[in-house]
Amino acid sequence: MPDKFPRLAASFLLAAMILTPQLSYGAGAGYPLDAALNDVGNIASLQRGARNFVNYCMGCHSAQYVRFNRLANDLQITEDQLVNNLMFAAEKPHETMQVAMPADDSARWFGQAPPDLTLIARSRGTDYLYTFLRTFYVDDSKPTGVNNLVLEGASMPHVLWELQGMQRKVVETDEEGHESIRLETVTEGSMSADEYDQFVRDIVNFLDYTGEPMQLERQRLGYWVLAFLLVFGLFSYLLKSEIWKDVK
Ligand code: HEC
Repeated sequence: MPDKFPRLAASFLLAAMILTPQLSYGAGAGYPLDAALNDVGNIASLQRGARNFVNYCMGCHSAQYVRFNRLANDLQITEDQLVNNLMFAAEKPHETMQVAMPADDSARWFGQAPPDLTLIARSRGTDYLYTFLRTFYVDDSKPTGVNNLVLEGASMPHVLWELQGMQRKVVETDEEGHESIRLETVTEGSMSADEYDQFVRDIVNFLDYTGEPMQLERQRLGYWVLAFLLVFGLFSYLLKSEIWKDVK
């Protein structure tokens, strides 16, 4: 009996530790989040994500803790590619990803200044971002003409509508009175649903990286550590066989 209590307490603690992140991510978002399933080790996806971010987001959002030359290095792109594909304003490689629009102008236009996105994947979670960018729907009562399922009353316009098309919200009630929400396409975009999901996943992947650039280095280092352990293990085995050979 005396040792039972600590064990019980430990299981509660463990359960709490496992559940806490889920609870905090879910908080505030009534709509169930879709899994982003992005992979920061996928360099091609990161490169596409950076391109999408520069083309579609940086008009309003900065990523002011990301330096262009660090980006080029981490994403394995050359300085030429960097200058031609990612830098449009008169930026220098050592500068950070700043937004062209002054913050108080955008606050005046949108009622809400677009936040810096460097760390947004850490504060909101990747699943939230993935769902947010896919769940804009037509709402004529809003100045932007759209609303969003995970950020009710969002003041961000649906900047990707030409790619995704436009959706409307459909609320269905089953026999037991449970409401379920789904989105239905009203105007087709230039991309198929799968293409659009991948497009968004690449941006989310990029934002996951900017939130913690060390992830990439850690992963690369991890492979070296594993390779070292393998080689070292092999040598220790050979050494052991050599030493014990004479003992038998
Ligand atoms: C035309 C300007 C504009 C563009 C372009 C734009 N956004 Fe926004 N974004 C906003 C504004 C304004 C907000 C603030 C919304 C709010 O809090 O109601 C915002 C908020 C956000 C948020 C925070 C949501 C939250 O939960 O607080 C994320 C994430 C985001 N934008 C991602 C993006 C991404 C990714 C792109 C590029 C695909 C993008 N935005 C392009 C204006 C823009």
